[in-house]
Amino acid sequence: MHYHLGRYSFLEWLMVIILMFGMSYCHSIQRIKEYGLTCFHTGGINCKKATLAKQSFFCRTPPRSLPSDVLQNMKVSTVMKCSGKRWCSLYINVNGTAILNEHVRGVEICVMTISSSQTQCESVRFSHKSKNLDGHKVDIQLNSFEVSIGQQVYVTMKTLPNFCYVELEKYHSVEGCDNKDVENNILSCLAGKLDYTINEEKKSITVQVSDIIEGFDYNVRLCWKRFICKDIGAHALIKADNSVRSVNLNYAEILPCLCIEGWSAIPDSRRVRICPFKHGGGKLNGPENFIRSESHLCTWLKCCDV
Ligand SMILES: *[C@@H]1O[C@H](CO)[C@@H](O)[C@H](O)[C@H]1NC(C)=O
Repeated sequence: MHYHLGRYSFLEWLMVIILMFGMSYCHSIQRIKEYGLTCFHTGGINCKKATLAKQSFFCRTPPRSLPSDVLQNMKVSTVMKCSGKRWCSLYINVNGTAILNEHVRGVEICVMTISSSQTQCESVRFSHKSKNLDGHKVDIQLNSFEVSIGQQVYVTMKTLPNFCYVELEKYHSVEGCDNKDVENNILSCLAGKLDYTINEEKKSITVQVSDIIEGFDYNVRLCWKRFICKDIGAHALIKADNSVRSVNLNYAEILPCLCIEGWSAIPDSRRVRICPFKHGGGKLNGPENFIRSESHLCTWLKCCDV
């Protein structure tokens, strides 16, 4: 079988698609040392952040002499600022170009986080002495918008004063922990690694944790996974200053849906979850371990809903 899509064969297209897919998960994120505003221009233009950073809701009719391309080339990307190994934060970087014009005093750039509808805005004002600079380009770079992993953002760039229909807009997805660079450098992606041993007599699971964020408490719990992982009251906290990185958790039954979860006690932290019994696995083979007498707290069918 041989498909031909234009000049390229099916296999060549497939390779291109796989390559593009792979790149989106592996591409590294630009590092910044300082965040803020940078303007690049050739003439004597002053560019500074305006103090009033309030989003302008109303727009004015643009004057006839205003060129429609007064704002150009908006590019949105994610950048990272680090203060030590793994201590990095993510910011939205917005690059854009404004054409100087007698009507335009500056630009306003806003980043809206779609999940929370929260908007961060910054405005930039130009001041220039000479009218001769009209028509000159100013390249603007603003990267002080802090964001979290995996957020969807909507970025707008408007003129000051805000003229209708001249704004630029773009959607952008902030990389998540599936991006290697983010996974290795953003603390909340570091979920930890769980290992376990079972003591059938004591009906307890000893969970050893490793690869966790230093300096923070760490939670471990047992849960029953159906749609969500339902808490079953077995929970322990490993204190940050505790050198013993293991806990004992008691269980009532080893069920196929029994899972072990771990996460750092920091906001938005990622959870690691292992469900070692889902194929009846581990040392406890065979269905006799799952289906026990009716008198037990929970039967396999009732708890796991399978
Ligand atoms: C934004 O502009 C800066 C300075 O010119 C440049 O270093 C950076 O690569 C640009 N970023 C994007 C996404 O184009």
